[in-house]
Amino acid sequence: MALPRILLVSGSTREGSFNESLVNATARKFGAAGAEALPISLRNYPMPFCDQGVAEAGIPDSVNALHALFATHDGIFLATPEYNAFPSPLLLNMIDWISRVRHYEGGMIEAFERPVYAIGAASPSPIGGYRALMMLRQKLALGVGATVVPAMAAVPAAYQAFDGQGDLVNEQDAGHLDKVVCQLLDAVTQRV
Ligand SMILES: Cc1cc2nc3c(=O)[nH]c(=O)nc-3n(C[C@H](O)[C@H](O)[C@H](O)COP(=O)(O)O)c2cc1C
Repeated sequence: MALPRILLVSGSTREGSFNESLVNATARKFGAAGAEALPISLRNYPMPFCDQGVAEAGIPDSVNALHALFATHDGIFLATPEYNAFPSPLLLNMIDWISRVRHYEGGMIEAFERPVYAIGAASPSPIGGYRALMMLRQKLALGVGATVVPAMAAVPAAYQAFDGQGDLVNEQDAGHLDKVVCQLLDAVTQRV
């Protein structure tokens, strides 16, 4: 059987982003668990803010490329910063854009309903972006019809959460992330 293909995206393009670290640490865990993991940076997929007018004027090449990646992976891991209790505008804008690709012609099903989703957040706060995760779960499940596995990786005190290799220092954080990886791989395998 082909290896499960997992795409990983950080909702921050900040230099030194904790969520980019979380994406990379998670990609290594998927790799170790026998999956094909592809971490990408939204730095390479610039896009304007989405609204009906710009979407009807034409889907940017960057968005079509992202849609193609989402549609050809079995599992998607999204890591979001918490901005005032919400996911980052960058990540929300990306989801909105992808949702407009062939909106009435199967584009939503390919990118959101067929893959299985898992989510994580890293923040300096003691609750690790948990509030943003609740909102992201709602956007994915209610907004675009995605299946999101129950486990979530909320990494608190992110400024001290990663070691020199970029792996999670704290056993509890690492354990939560293992559960996310395990649940996503189980869900993906059951769908094949
Ligand atoms: C506009 C703004 C709002 C923020 N709101 C929150 C918040 O509600 N909770 C939180 O834990 N951190 C908050 N932060 C701090 C971010 O968690 C912090 O900048 C973090 O490093 C962002 O993730 P990144 O490292 O992946 O870029 C906020 C930061 C900004 C710029």
